[in-house]
Amino acid sequence: MTELRIRAATPDDLDTVLAFWRTAAEGTSISDDRDGVDRLVARDPLALILAEREGELVGTVIAGFDGWRCHLYRLAVHPQHRRQGIGGALLAAAEDRFARLGGRRGDATVLTRNVTAQHAWRAAGYSPQEQWRRWVKPLTNALCRSFTLEGQPGPPGHRPSAKGVSVRPWASLPVPDIERSLPHCRTMGRG
Ligand SMILES: CC(C)(COP(=O)(O)OP(=O)(O)OC[C@H]1O[C@@H](n2cnc3c(N)ncnc32)[C@H](O)[C@@H]1OP(=O)(O)O)[C@@H](O)C(=O)NCCC(=O)NCCS
Repeated sequence: MTELRIRAATPDDLDTVLAFWRTAAEGTSISDDRDGVDRLVARDPLALILAEREGELVGTVIAGFDGWRCHLYRLAVHPQHRRQGIGGALLAAAEDRFARLGGRRGDATVLTRNVTAQHAWRAAGYSPQEQWRRWVKPLTNALCRSFTLEGQPGPPGHRPSAKGVSVRPWASLPVPDIERSLPHCRTMGRG
């Protein structure tokens, strides 16, 4: 059996990764496009972890740490390379990353019908928390809305919300440098 190489993805890998997910991943994700993966790697260059065998991409996982929690996404192994320990090796690499960053617990969203994935997550030591449900909201209309809670009348551009909370556009809020360099934040910065 040839050696498995585990490494972080670079921008040059991203088209290959997107094509790989179309055959290897469970369904599609809302962020499965070039903009989505570019943003991930720009924001956190070590988050997208790849497994390669003889130069061929055979597995992926996203190990995202936001300073608070450790989220795992896009765990996928090429159909012809499954049950060879690649999924487990990717999770071990992700967990190693989280532990170095001070993370305390890894979590993943797993479809209730994806029994194979549940076997794999369980084998890696994960267990479901039945008392939680995932709540989601598409952010298509969220740009240029932010709330200040100081209770003061805002500068020009502020609008009071229905409950009297002062609302000001993103342009007047500080944007960290890392976010300023991302395409969607440049748009927000212009306000
Ligand atoms: C889930 C997935 C990533 C597992 O990858 P993998 O490389 O095959 O996993 P591993 O070889 O590391 O398996 C580790 C253990 O998980 C369990 N496991 C994995 N696949 C299993 C299966 N089909 N049936 C039963 N147990 C399974 C076994 O305990 C296995 O250990 P073993 O082979 O020594 O018995 C892979 O099946 C996959 O890509 N599926 C499609 C995408 C997907 O559903 N991703 C998860 C999204 S939440």
